[in-house]
Amino acid sequence: MTRARIVIDRDFTVGEVPRRLFGSFVEHMGRCVYTGIYEPGHPSADADGLRTDVLELVAEMGPTVVRYPGGNFVSGYRWTDGIGPVEDRPRRLDGAWHTVESNRFGLHEFVGWARKAGVEVMEAINLGTAGVEEARALVEYANHPGGTYWSDLRRANGAEEPFDIRLWCLGNEMDGPWQIGHKTASEYGRLAQETAKAMRLVDPRLELVACGSSNSGMPTFGAWEETVLSHTYEEVDFISLHAYYQEHDGDAASFLASSVDTDHFISRVAATADAVGAKLKSKKQINLSFDEWNVWYQRGLDSEDQPHRIAEQPWREHPRVIEDTYNVTDAVVVGTLLNSLLRHGDRVQIANQAQLVNVIAPIRSEPGGPAWRQSSFHPFARTAALAKGQILQTRVSSDKHPTARFGDVDTVDVSATWDEENGRVALFLANRGLDEAAEVEVELRGLVAGTGATAEVLTTPEGGDRFTANTAEDPARVGLTDLAVGVEDGRVRLTLPALSWACVQLPVSLG
Ligand code: AHR
Repeated sequence: MTRARIVIDRDFTVGEVPRRLFGSFVEHMGRCVYTGIYEPGHPSADADGLRTDVLELVAEMGPTVVRYPGGNFVSGYRWTDGIGPVEDRPRRLDGAWHTVESNRFGLHEFVGWARKAGVEVMEAINLGTAGVEEARALVEYANHPGGTYWSDLRRANGAEEPFDIRLWCLGNEMDGPWQIGHKTASEYGRLAQETAKAMRLVDPRLELVACGSSNSGMPTFGAWEETVLSHTYEEVDFISLHAYYQEHDGDAASFLASSVDTDHFISRVAATADAVGAKLKSKKQINLSFDEWNVWYQRGLDSEDQPHRIAEQPWREHPRVIEDTYNVTDAVVVGTLLNSLLRHGDRVQIANQAQLVNVIAPIRSEPGGPAWRQSSFHPFARTAALAKGQILQTRVSSDKHPTARFGDVDTVDVSATWDEENGRVALFLANRGLDEAAEVEVELRGLVAGTGATAEVLTTPEGGDRFTANTAEDPARVGLTDLAVGVEDGRVRLTLPALSWACVQLPVSLG
């Protein structure tokens, strides 16, 4: 049996839970938009062609902010193609994903969807093939009340009131050679600086995200952030991070320890941003926007739906692309990635799981058919619902186990929050051990545990194994079940099954 002891103290907090930590991402890629969130003619479609079955799942999952319209897609996108009468919109080739974009869905449709989903819009601009002029026109179109060319065009297109979009990404993964309009750090840094300035001259309330590295394995990682921020420091609020994880060659132990990498990645980007701030003698702090993260099986040459092979396919409209099916192991990893984001909630103020529907997504849907929750839906939904108030520091003494990539790691991974207003502590726990259950004891300091603690767990279902997943035919095979939790002498005790993710709700009073 694995053992772990966790101490939390109401006086040792990380900061308030940033609500934008539970973001998601909708890209014009594969079937995320078309037959994902939007499918006129689907039995559940509303008058705007939005799938209400998907909207219901989105409401249950609880994302707070959704990035749009890409992703790599945005670097070749003309936003003006997606406005005005649908029948007049051009069909275009999208080079990023080698598809034909019909533009039946654009800015107005997305803002309409976001309002129905109750999420904030995080709009990305094209800094690949476009620049300052297109960006400031878009801000005027979206946010200016009226009486100018672009704002009156919005009104003529049916939106009398401004969209009032505050959060904007200055391009996407501009360090990546695959990116349309790929740039060096100085080229991008200067462009982002001038674009930010011009956008803020239209609307000074904007919050802006500069592109960091596409991932921490990029050869320019670190130097890229330093150069970009030395140009943009006073013009932007956030620098972005992207990370995708997968199991390599059956090494489940390393895969399950992926959050160790996330922890390091976050610390390094924060340190680099602070070093630039110090050099510039700036009083300002740049925060982090982890605006793409997830499990993504970037399979080898065998798979035709992978980005590096998509260009070999004929031009298609919204084909099936990277529709990864997530299993129990993947869901536990997603839970630990959320733990890492929460533990760094003082610096990571925005995070977007990529993506929302069908494309490496927690929600899947079939054209004309059902929509269902993948295994990874559950840790996201429960963490988004329960992580409220203050993030608590966690002192963890856990048994460890060896991993090939990260050395010895804690077998039990945790994050915790304290919602003072509602008198509730929430614990998010993962047992990364594949074979043994873990006995966990949580000691509270400055807080007294009351009665009525509850816990839910996601683990291998009866008769399944760690690869068991939900499917259209069996959509609830992997889900949450109740877990026993005891409170004795002010200590909370529970046993996590091998390979599991759990959340605990604990009524507390001040001690
Ligand atoms: O989310 C899928 C793709 O991954 C995005 O388009 C891109 O930004 C990243 O490389």
